[in-house]
Amino acid sequence: MIVVLSLQVTDVWAPYGGYPKIVREGINENYLPIWLQGIGYNTYYSGKLWNQHSIENYNSPYAGGFNQSDFLLDPFTYEYRNAWMTRNGGPPVSYAGQYSPDLTAEKAYGFLEEALGHDEPFFLVHAPIASHGDIKLAGGFVSDQPQYAERHAHLFKEYQIPRGDDFNPEVQGGVSWVRELPRLNDTVIAYSDEYQRARLRSLQSVDEMVDKTVKILEESGQLDNTYIIYTTDNGYHIAQHRMAPGKECGFETDVHIPLVVRGPGIAAGHISKAVTSHTDLASTIMELAGSSIDSDGTPIPLTAERENNARVEHVTIEYWGLAIPEGIYGYYGDANMTEGMNISSHAVGNNTYKAIRVIGEEYNLYYAVWCTNETEFYDLNPDYGHLASQYAIAGRSFDNIVPRLDALMMVLKSCKGQECVRPWGTLHPAGDVVSLIDSLDSRYDVFYQVQPKVSFSKCELGYIRESEGPQDVVQFEKDMQEQGAPVKFRYQGGFSIWT
Ligand SMILES: *[C@@H]1O[C@H](CO)[C@@H](O)[C@H](O)[C@H]1NC(C)=O
Ligand SMILES: *[C@@H]1O[C@H](CO)[C@@H](O)[C@H](O)[C@H]1NC(C)=O
Ligand SMILES: *[C@@H]1O[C@H](CO)[C@@H](O)[C@H](O)[C@H]1NC(C)=O
Ligand SMILES: *[C@@H]1O[C@H](CO)[C@@H](O)[C@H](O)[C@H]1NC(C)=O
Repeated sequence: MIVVLSLQVTDVWAPYGGYPKIVREGINENYLPIWLQGIGYNTYYSGKLWNQHSIENYNSPYAGGFNQSDFLLDPFTYEYRNAWMTRNGGPPVSYAGQYSPDLTAEKAYGFLEEALGHDEPFFLVHAPIASHGDIKLAGGFVSDQPQYAERHAHLFKEYQIPRGDDFNPEVQGGVSWVRELPRLNDTVIAYSDEYQRARLRSLQSVDEMVDKTVKILEESGQLDNTYIIYTTDNGYHIAQHRMAPGKECGFETDVHIPLVVRGPGIAAGHISKAVTSHTDLASTIMELAGSSIDSDGTPIPLTAERENNARVEHVTIEYWGLAIPEGIYGYYGDANMTEGMNISSHAVGNNTYKAIRVIGEEYNLYYAVWCTNETEFYDLNPDYGHLASQYAIAGRSFDNIVPRLDALMMVLKSCKGQECVRPWGTLHPAGDVVSLIDSLDSRYDVFYQVQPKVSFSKCELGYIRESEGPQDVVQFEKDMQEQGAPVKFRYQGGFSIWT
């Protein structure tokens, strides 16, 4: 059993994130590749590992946990034809002129051949930069559409971003800075379409890499003895809700991302309904490797049988810091510059929020509380469109539903370990409420009304506890209520009686 410590990395950039922070928090000595080595795996990595893992700090210390590695390094990571890489801790090498996704793929094939030559099981990661935007250092960081290989330049010539309801809408919804965005003009729309075509072309190199990886495994006879996990670390919005290309929001475009798993015991072509997040990946991989970890996640159900028994219905979404528009037209205002990142002079600072997605038989919703204290609610059922005043679940009205969502978010914003997987248990220790629908029972109405609510006193760029409002929820004590005594709820910190 491996115990993951509570780690405070709440941004992808300094001072709240990035490689130096990863090192300071001890993560470099206590994360997935190291746990896998601990149970006999050989581990390999090609591509991007962390932000701010750079030509300056790549060896102080060297990234832990890999038997062999070839890492892309900042400040060149997102330059498609100007990569700098460090192989197994060696001095950074320039690959000027080479196409980065093809380059990191070649290195991954080399590691795969190496791994297949040993008797031990192996864990290999390839993290190509496609379809990230191209970011060059030219004074400050300058961002533009991704570059693609010449051989893919003829593809997707006619492609357009789907013109759905959320595409550059006439009437803008949302809260905080999103609500203020002006409608995009035809120049920006044309740029966005071409930007999206460039993303699709850049992903053709990734597709070819998947194909070749599978072929190498097939030729070695190991394909059916290997799990292949294909995913991404974020989604993307581009012209939806009038936004410049980017990814720091809670919208479906940003958070609803693909996860494809192939391997022994997994049905081909099956589309899972399980509600999961990347917090679950480490547990999933450790379980596939025959071990386990104690983390804030739980193994993703990879078989139909386990999927049917899966009870998780929520995903926690949290973001601190800047919304960073990408591309040549992205400009949201003048937030304070973050250390070493001039691109943020175009970013907006009030982009700190907590959100939850909750998905059950009768609901599919998104609820958010922003650092401005504004709240946002979306019904994501396909037949959505009713007003909040008409929204109901199991006959309970919107006014009854929101306090439950507030309480769920209260638990999830500061949960640790399995509490993050089974948050209702913190509110209802007796274990008789395990879902939103259970919590909607009218006998809990008063209980949910007295709960402290998520709020912020300031829009911070990372987790600052003092700016995040109340931390503890009230717990429901079933016995008391059934005996008709004054309803007694318990604060996690002490007792308090409400009548
Ligand atoms: C990979 O690294 C681990 C941890 O240092 C070590 O025990 C193992 O022998 C290495 N494997 C190979 C093939 O060198
Ligand atoms: C369209 O919008 C962009 C971004 O705001 C601006 O730079 C450009 O001048 C506008 N083009 C026209 C034709 O109005
Ligand atoms: C954030 O919101 C506050 C209050 O609404 C506002 O005064 C401030 O200018 C905003 N900051 C940025 C960087 O947008
Ligand atoms: C948000 O609400 C809390 C609680 O009512 C209040 O203390 C805080 O000042 C508010 N924050 C902002 C940014 O208005």
